[in-house]
Amino acid sequence: MIYFLFLEYLLDEILRIEHLKKYFVKKSVFSSEVSTLRATDDVSFYLEKGEVFVLAGESGSGKSTIAKMILKSIESDSGKIIFEGQEIKNDQKSLEKIRMNCQMIHQDPYDSINPRMKIFDIIVEPLEIHKIGDSSSRKQRVLEVLREVKLEPAEEVIKKYPHMLSGGQRQRVVLARALSINPKVILADEPVSMLDVSIRAEMLELMGELQKKYGISFIYITHDLATARYFGQRIGILYLGKIVEMGKIDDVLLSPKHPYTQALIDAISEPDPENVNKEKKIRINEPNEISIFEGCRFRPRCPYAIDKCKVEPSLESKNGDHAFACYVDIT
Ligand SMILES: Nc1ncnc2c1ncn2[C@@H]1O[C@H](COP(=O)(O)OP(=O)(O)O)[C@@H](O)[C@H]1O
Ligand SMILES: [Mg+2]
Repeated sequence: MIYFLFLEYLLDEILRIEHLKKYFVKKSVFSSEVSTLRATDDVSFYLEKGEVFVLAGESGSGKSTIAKMILKSIESDSGKIIFEGQEIKNDQKSLEKIRMNCQMIHQDPYDSINPRMKIFDIIVEPLEIHKIGDSSSRKQRVLEVLREVKLEPAEEVIKKYPHMLSGGQRQRVVLARALSINPKVILADEPVSMLDVSIRAEMLELMGELQKKYGISFIYITHDLATARYFGQRIGILYLGKIVEMGKIDDVLLSPKHPYTQALIDAISEPDPENVNKEKKIRINEPNEISIFEGCRFRPRCPYAIDKCKVEPSLESKNGDHAFACYVDIT
């Protein structure tokens, strides 16, 4: 019985990362000092088929580094990436499998599209790289995905250059390019943060529609908890390379258990008119390159820190799948 339950669990899971680690060596500009920057420090999570998992955290918390390691565009120091039950190593077969099935959308469309290429050439490129179809079926596919992302008339759009489109339209081209090879997973790294606020919802809505229509799984990377709640089902909160809280989106955002999650939510909540002068307990805009890595790394900014926090708390769930790494009950 247990065996079957385990098997069923595995079948629902598309991607899993286990104990992923990436440290960068940082040289000081002013001296010969060298320090270690723990961009990703023992990060584990899974992604179910058809779900949106959000990786949230401030700038510099290690979100993009994780995405790059999943796609093998940078090498992890240690840890595993498991796609459809198989570990992705560095052999050609594994790399082809992950790149055929996982596509990335970057924050800045110009990171994924060449401004000197026409829209047709931009979108057809992944089909050519992966040798999918012939020239006629590729053209059909390009037109089809342009219609999927609502860039019409597709026959006209393919002849244009990126600079002839608006920022929102360019990000739709990036989405169309990612969709062209029918990926099972899309890693969307801050896909709307460079867009005007007025068109962010449209883009998220479009990604949501495609996710439901094709059962695509998303890792949605963001520093913005409002869009996270709109788009995601589960969330992991990253702080300086570590997940400090993880669970269903409403559990985490409506009853945060970690002081850092609470601070992030505090930062976006409406000011209380009766307490306009009340100071927020935690300022989240302080520089976050704090080099204390003994014990809980949030300790220097945490108003609840106790002596015990000098020993790093592990990410544990005390209530179903809502896990957090904190000794103090802040609720
Ligand atoms: N190639 C690199 N070399 C050195 N440091 C890096 C490199 N890439 C990222 N970093 C550092 O790692 C940390 C995490 O970066 P990143 O993953 O880009 O964060 P995020 O996407 O959350 O803003 C940052 O402090 C960043 O400066
Ligand atoms: Mg980033």
